Amino acid sequence: MNLKDKIAVVTGGSSGIGQAICIALAKEGCKVVFTYNTNEKGADETLKKLNDDSYKFKVDLQNEEDIKNLFDFVKEKFGKLDILVNNAGYSKSGDIFDLKLWSRALNTNVLGYITVIKYAKNIINEGKILNISSVYAEDKVAWPGKAADAASKSAINNLTRTIAKEFAPKINVNAIAPGYVDTRLWDEFSPEIKNEAKTELLIGRLIKPSEIAEMATAIIKNDAMTGEVVVVDGGLSLKTV
Ligand SMILES: NC(=O)c1ccc[n+]([C@@H]2O[C@H](COP(=O)([O-])OP(=O)(O)OC[C@H]3O[C@@H](n4cnc5c(N)ncnc54)[C@H](OP(=O)(O)O)[C@@H]3O)[C@@H](O)[C@H]2O)c1
Repeated sequence: MNLKDKIAVVTGGSSGIGQAICIALAKEGCKVVFTYNTNEKGADETLKKLNDDSYKFKVDLQNEEDIKNLFDFVKEKFGKLDILVNNAGYSKSGDIFDLKLWSRALNTNVLGYITVIKYAKNIINEGKILNISSVYAEDKVAWPGKAADAASKSAINNLTRTIAKEFAPKINVNAIAPGYVDTRLWDEFSPEIKNEAKTELLIGRLIKPSEIAEMATAIIKNDAMTGEVVVVDGGLSLKTV
């Protein structure tokens, strides 16, 4: 897919990975509509780096009306959608029995993602869907306190494979499973934990958001790939047993 003048929606474009994906898609020539929820200042910074005819839109993924309004706006402005990047997510750590944490993770990351896809599907005839998952979603990767986040991202991997079949052949659906990416998400941890985390990656550092965005554009451009979860984790999951 040539991305010039394509219409893209990216959720969670106000910081981190989502912001980097918005900028990377804009460099390829896309018109980007991206969402923010609480961080309007970050959204304004993203918007400055995008092409003309790009927009920010406030959406809480836990609110179906917000999501419907987003795609009504895209339909009214552009009449269609070519690319959806489901990136916004709730990834806080916490007690395994904190049911509020589970509820928020599952509502945002599972119901939120599928609700976004539901409304996007009405206006994508042919195109690409990319979900941002996590390295915690599969294989033998785990971190105490991350159960709700990891379970929600496992659901996203399965959703990616299932809808790749359901939406074929017109819409390709893939996911990226990032390892530790240097974003605000790490603010909840102490500098000591952040430093220790770096040593777990074979590359010896956290991944840059732009490195996830590079993979995102490569996947979106590729027309032969669907149903895949691509791990970009700096070697985090490659353990010696
Ligand atoms: N950083 C990592 O190490 C890492 C690793 C694996 C996977 N991921 C995944 O990558 C994605 C992006 O995270 P990030 O690292 O870039 O963190 P981030 O900078 O904190 O970005 C999170 C984004 O999600 C949005 N968001 C959160 N809850 C929302 C809600 N209820 N409704 C709408 N938007 C909501 C935030 O919007 P506002 O700030 O405007 O409220 C923000 O734009 C997430 O899905 C995360 O799970 C990150």
